[in-house]
Amino acid sequence: MQRHTFTLALALWLAILAGLKLLVQPPMPASVLMIYMVLSTLGIGVYVAANEARWRDFLAPLQAVFDGRAPRLVQALVLAGLPLLVGYGTWQRTAPSWDAPFEPRVVHPEPPSSFSAHGKRIDTVALKNPLRTGDAAALARHIAEGKTIYYRNCFYCHGDALAGDGHFAGAFTPLPANFRDVGTIGMLQESYVYWRIATGGPGLPKGATPWLSAMPVWQHMLSEEEIWKVVLYIYEGSGATPRTWDEEVKHDHHK
Ligand code: HEC
Repeated sequence: MQRHTFTLALALWLAILAGLKLLVQPPMPASVLMIYMVLSTLGIGVYVAANEARWRDFLAPLQAVFDGRAPRLVQALVLAGLPLLVGYGTWQRTAPSWDAPFEPRVVHPEPPSSFSAHGKRIDTVALKNPLRTGDAAALARHIAEGKTIYYRNCFYCHGDALAGDGHFAGAFTPLPANFRDVGTIGMLQESYVYWRIATGGPGLPKGATPWLSAMPVWQHMLSEEEIWKVVLYIYEGSGATPRTWDEEVKHDHHK
């Protein structure tokens, strides 16, 4: 039993390493793993060194290898294996990687101050939804038409509940926008949404690259009015309200 001190210490050390690597979820960062392993090494070391006989037993196999008393095979494994292991580790850390570099995604890139759609130059700041008049009956009609436009053109990707989970959604990266998410149209002005629909993925500015958005360029397929109608519908259907600067001014007055 005593003679196995080295093997037992090594087995315990490997068991701790395997346990931390395999059982801890989510995986811990390498630096934290390093701290645990340094502490474990110290703990095992202190235990082994605390007793004279145990310490001698622990060193015995090491001395056997370095004195040349151990079997040839063991000697070869240790003397060639250790340097190879260190070399492999170093290579792993410095070798170039072919993984795609991490590219942060700008979810709502700044819109251009003006853009062209339907053959016209449009000033983004001055752009307002012309269908949002005070007339409630007309608004209800426009929303109903917008709904038809949505289910003819958009739901394949954006989903029948506007949650970004249409039949084709899984095929695209980035995923189609989920209009029920507070982070999408609810925090955007209608002019911004109009710009995105009219110019689609290809209309995204440089700041939004390396996006490969599947969002089509709808100005080629829908008229200006149809786009405004579908804008009305995606707000109505998702329960979101467009962001307006006027409203924020009003909130300030209430305070
Ligand atoms: C082929 C799939 C596809 C179809 C069809 C499609 N979209 Fe998209 N759409 C996307 C994808 C993918 C995104 C997310 C990437 C982006 O913003 O360009 C997106 C983003 C958007 C955004 C931006 C939302 C935000 O938070 O920035 C709006 C608005 C939008 N779509 C409206 C529509 C409307 C309205 C229609 C129908 C007229 C439509 N989409 C049809 C794929 C599609």
